[in-house]
Amino acid sequence: MAKIQAIKGFADLFADESRLFTFLEQSARAVFSRYGFTELRTPLMEFTDLFCRSIGTETDVVQKEMYTILDSKGRSMSLRPEATAGVMRAYVENNVGARESVSKFFTTGPMFRHERPQKGRMRQFHQINCECVGPKEPEADAEMIGMLMVFLETVGIKNITLQLNTLGCAECRPSYRTLLHDWLTQLDREVLCDDCKRRMETNPLRVLDCKNPKCQEATQGAPLMMEHSCGECKDHFAVVKKSLEGQNIAFEINHRLVRGLDYYTRTAFEVVSANIGAQGSIAGGGRYDGLVSSIGGASVPGIGFACGMERLVLLLQESENTKLEAPQSDFYVIALDDSCRASAFSVTQDLRREGLSGSMAFETRSIKSAMRQADKSGARFALLIGSTELEANSVMIKNMESGAQEAVLCANAAVFIREGK
Ligand code: HAM
Repeated sequence: MAKIQAIKGFADLFADESRLFTFLEQSARAVFSRYGFTELRTPLMEFTDLFCRSIGTETDVVQKEMYTILDSKGRSMSLRPEATAGVMRAYVENNVGARESVSKFFTTGPMFRHERPQKGRMRQFHQINCECVGPKEPEADAEMIGMLMVFLETVGIKNITLQLNTLGCAECRPSYRTLLHDWLTQLDREVLCDDCKRRMETNPLRVLDCKNPKCQEATQGAPLMMEHSCGECKDHFAVVKKSLEGQNIAFEINHRLVRGLDYYTRTAFEVVSANIGAQGSIAGGGRYDGLVSSIGGASVPGIGFACGMERLVLLLQESENTKLEAPQSDFYVIALDDSCRASAFSVTQDLRREGLSGSMAFETRSIKSAMRQADKSGARFALLIGSTELEANSVMIKNMESGAQEAVLCANAAVFIREGK
């Protein structure tokens, strides 16, 4: 019969990779809790309308990349392509803003985007995501970016660049958008890629961060948001930069950084690595002062970021410094004949209850093949139970390294192993 395969772009994560994912999650939890973040787990699926209203109907994510189904009542639902929209929906729906003026949420888990899979780009991928809802002050931006950089340093990610831009606000962006649109219409349309021909009308800012070299060359002299932002946006950005400098955080200004989601206002940032190929953006985020109101909440500002876990794992795997050893197994229990299996099983369970880790050979095999398995399991001790041991209520414990063996009462086995005799 034909084998059933995983869906393209959806991966199985076996122990070596899973260990790195767990390491990243645990490190994130430890770092973020120092800044007052608490964990929020939101559903993997939401009404499609949430993503249309927050991420924006003109974005690639909403237009081409969502996994959408209709339920039996004809309601459209989508697997989450990112975490921010769901976190804001939970914030509004649970009226969190009425109880606290600043809310800090940390979320981790799988996201789904129907993109073309390649190294570092999956259809099911995982994010570590943080949101801070409430403060409009620029120090909140600097705190968020600073925390991201501390996290990346903590887990050992090196040789990265923080890129920064300001995207303006509801006051200044519309006139800049018109200015940019008019500037773009003067170009020979044929020099732009098909996506940019469309974006020019729907979201001209996105033309600036097209990765196609021809589009980049054609838009060299385009007017810059930073030069056309209002006084308040300029002041905000100046404080963000100063606060980052105050934390000794190096950054580059990237006038082309626009981000692929429409909810951003003012500060936008990305952390980029040159070491993992084309998909070098390992984290991205920004301020979103109009997002909460766009999904029916009050006018509450916010800022956040997400890291791509698969991309962090690729970097960790390439780094010599991150070798996470598999946890060592303490014991391997072998019943020498079928009459000893029940006793071997209860010894195994008792040792685990005592906090030791190990397994039992379920099949009764020749002692030679059982010992080979004990060796393969990496256990420090093999425990053999035959009829002599059964009668004496004991086990024969063999030190796998030295080869020394000793009969030990079952009741004393845990202490013997723990003391590493
Ligand atoms: P994003 O830039 O779309 O932002 O994604 C954040 C990160 O997720 C990227 O920098 C990348 O590392 C990773 N990522 C995105 N798509 C894929 C993929 N197909 N495969 C593997 N990794 C991927 C957001 O999602 C925003 N919600 C971030 C944010 C939070 N903004 C404010 N708060």
